[in-house]
Amino acid sequence: MEKLIVHGGNRLRGKVLISGSKNSSLPILAATLLTKDDCVIRQVPDLSDTNYMLQILRALGAEVERASGTVNVKAEKIIPDTPYDLVRKMRASICVMGPLTGRLRKAVVSMPGGCVIGDRPVDLHLKGLEYLGAKVQMDGGNIHIEAKKPLKGCTMNLLGKFGSTVLGTDNVLMAAVLTKGTTIIEGAAAEPEVEDLANFLIKMGAKIEGAGTTRIVVEGVKELHGAEHTVIPDRIEAGTFLVAGAIFGDGVMVKRVVPAHLKNVTDTLLASGYEVTSTKDSVTIMPGSGSPKGFHLTTRVYPGFPTDMQAQFCALACLIPGLSSIKETIFPQRFMHVSELKRMGANIELDGDTARITGVETLSGAPVMASDLRASAALVLAGLAAKGTTEIHRLYHIDRGYEHLDEKLSMLGAVTERVKE
Ligand code: UD1
Repeated sequence: MEKLIVHGGNRLRGKVLISGSKNSSLPILAATLLTKDDCVIRQVPDLSDTNYMLQILRALGAEVERASGTVNVKAEKIIPDTPYDLVRKMRASICVMGPLTGRLRKAVVSMPGGCVIGDRPVDLHLKGLEYLGAKVQMDGGNIHIEAKKPLKGCTMNLLGKFGSTVLGTDNVLMAAVLTKGTTIIEGAAAEPEVEDLANFLIKMGAKIEGAGTTRIVVEGVKELHGAEHTVIPDRIEAGTFLVAGAIFGDGVMVKRVVPAHLKNVTDTLLASGYEVTSTKDSVTIMPGSGSPKGFHLTTRVYPGFPTDMQAQFCALACLIPGLSSIKETIFPQRFMHVSELKRMGANIELDGDTARITGVETLSGAPVMASDLRASAALVLAGLAAKGTTEIHRLYHIDRGYEHLDEKLSMLGAVTERVKE
């Protein structure tokens, strides 16, 4: 295991190139299982999560090659059984369920467990596949999906009690593209990553309308062919660097981004008094003329404020004078970072799904424990601005979702060391 040592107090300045989206890459790689032909996916970030997905594709029978950010997949002959040892390492492996069901009418995937950010059920994924005519059974910790007859399109609503589901929408979409007739998904997730997946499927020959909205219409086709695709930039990585620029920067530019995907994040930063300017593919954050103001945000499905940016804004609020509040509606227990930030001197009161944060003048470096991907990023951000040294243990959480985070921060002037524990 490795830890990251962050020497606080070095102001950040400069430009950082944003990698391809992790959350787009995973379902798009899974979608290559829908065809026997060659697929080429570009800008796939080099992360442990994308590497797990490539191992799963290989275990299912696909030939996979990776050369830096480009992945070639040929899934000529595949099997429906997904290996537990790989699936348990990454919850998002569940997104092979849709393509396996679409192409083979059969899938065996182990039931993902809960994780530190909450219970994380997959009932909506299964409901959607059942609507298409698949039978779902649980046995020995595995989900068995099978359809004796060809799947048939229908109208369904995938909205759950916490709103829409991103990977659930992806799964149903990937099964529906090879399903006879028309499938209408109401209550679909409208996240840019779902739209990116749909754009790849369309390049493969799928007929899809409405992706990127809450109503997706799919006209099933008999088969799909190979395609090439470039994954969209990672809006959460970009947002994390913008918060780094806000928390302790004198001008940080994120390049190769889609500014529209970051709107809720940049609007919150603007409202807090930071200067934020955008071009076609970059966003720059500068300190504002006065001192920043507290903010009050609620996480929502896209285009609302992303839950994946909640922890980073929590770290920022710790250093903004006055009161801020953060309400988490997607994963109400997603506050593992709070106790660690408090160990660094933050003043945070947690009340159910809401954190009330009163800004302090400085944080002080401390040894802290990373608990999940975005919580870990929040601790790194806090460490950049803290007095002294912050040691972030269990660095593997960060390596799941940020490509070369420490190297990119160093290029902006941060001083960090990656050390074996
Ligand atoms: C995806 C993202 C994750 C992000 C999340 C919400 C990937 C790989 N991960 O996760 O980074 O935080 O979207 O934007 O893209 N739910 C159910 N039943 C289900 C499925 C979900 O009740 O069958 C609930 C969840 O518990 C949660 C909410 O719906 O409360 C949203 O979860 P969902 O959008 O499914 O998250 P993921 O797709 O797993």
